[in-house]
Amino acid sequence: MMRSFSRRVRCVTACFRILPALWPAAAIAFSTSAAGADANAKMELGRTVFTKIAQPQCGLCHTLEDAGTTGTIGAKLEELRPDANRVAEAVRKGLGVMPPYAGKLTDEQIEAVAHYVSRAAAGN
Ligand code: HEC
Repeated sequence: MMRSFSRRVRCVTACFRILPALWPAAAIAFSTSAAGADANAKMELGRTVFTKIAQPQCGLCHTLEDAGTTGTIGAKLEELRPDANRVAEAVRKGLGVMPPYAGKLTDEQIEAVAHYVSRAAAGN
């Protein structure tokens, strides 16, 4: 009785000694998975802006396989492979028959759709 009690005490003490040692590793694992979740959320928002939020919808004019769109008025984005800055610039200011979206989309939405299009068009 006395013996098993003291064994438990020893175990608890050991656990408390180990916990602080594990904590930095746990904190790192948590922060990298949080960053991954952030990036995924940005991709998701970007896809939603591309297919739903932007009016008129990007996919009416652009083909982007990842978004399942087949528009042909504008470039096929997989062929153009624009970087995020180029997408954001076109979305803000418009280009030819492409309307400007500044004022219609928030900065966060423009940034997300630029991130999404540049990644999805490059296949990653
Ligand atoms: C009414 C049709 C139309 C819509 C809607 C449209 N675009 Fe465009 N887009 C065009 C045309 C036309 C061009 C110019 C020719 C080209 O590069 O395809 C263009 C150009 C672009 C370019 C290339 C810019 C450059 O520097 O060459 C990108 C990137 C782009 N559009 C992304 C988008 C995104 C993202 C959306 C939605 C927020 C969108 N477009 C909505 C027609 C459209």
